[in-house]
Amino acid sequence: MPHNLLVDAPEQGVQVLTLNRPDVLNALNTDLLNNLSKALDDAEADPEVRAIVITGNQKAFAAGADINEMAARDLVGILEDPRVAHWERIARFTKPIIAAVNGFALGGGCELAMHADILIAGENARFGQPEINLGIMPGAGGTQRLTRKVGEALAMHMALTGEQINATRALQAGLVSEISQPELTVERAIEIGQTIARKAPIAVRLTKESVRKADDMSLSDGLRFERHAFTLLAGTADRQEGLDAFREKRSPRFNGQ
Ligand code: HXC
Repeated sequence: MPHNLLVDAPEQGVQVLTLNRPDVLNALNTDLLNNLSKALDDAEADPEVRAIVITGNQKAFAAGADINEMAARDLVGILEDPRVAHWERIARFTKPIIAAVNGFALGGGCELAMHADILIAGENARFGQPEINLGIMPGAGGTQRLTRKVGEALAMHMALTGEQINATRALQAGLVSEISQPELTVERAIEIGQTIARKAPIAVRLTKESVRKADDMSLSDGLRFERHAFTLLAGTADRQEGLDAFREKRSPRFNGQ
């Protein structure tokens, strides 16, 4: 049986993780989430990895949590669901994540895509939170991240009706930052990852953290965090290198210090 998560070797700082359960539209079961968590642990520790691309296949990014597995869980199973820790692991990842979404990103699949820092969609992408059709509701950010990203009107519409939106609507709503031809989505995501991989690592890390704080903090607390992070960067060798390189009209050589 093929492995349910394909983990490529990092290339030019970017590692591609491919969800690989094509027979069930990449439905997210515990084993797949477990492997994703492990891959992120490894990527976090690997200095060669500067950004991650998560993708699926042309038909589906992921059509949600594995419904067959969910059906087998009782209340205790849900309360002690090991997948909760996996979602938290993904949210805690400090390096940039780019989601390259073709086809269905539904339920937990949409929620996984929303864990990414940059979301690129193929023209054929479909986003939705169809849990309501199953008598349940989103459980990994589909009422919270989605609302912050697209606003209450559309989030409420999607979560209460289960209706999907296409890539154009997702772009208009601010859920994705770019649309590409489906066959080029992964390539484009890698290109974005490689652009980020050439930047100063500490600045990248603090930028991600600071933008993320905008969801969690008041404006004044967020501004305070931003100012502290900005000040912290003043002491880095990479800041000096960036300023020197600009003034000397050459490309900077950042070394993460
Ligand atoms: C398990 C799934 C699946 C899923 C699809 N499949 N989605 N299996 N879990 N989430 C399986 C189908 O059963 C089918 O298997 C095969 O994948 C192909 O799917 P089809 O339905 O035949 O394809 P199509 O007609 O093109 O329809 C695509 C679809 C539909 C619209 C995406 O599959 C669908 O509605 N899937 C469920 C989407 C959903 O409700 N997701 C939310 C899950 S709840 P067979 O064996 O028949 O070939 C969730 C909660 C997250 O995500 C909570 C986080 C904490």
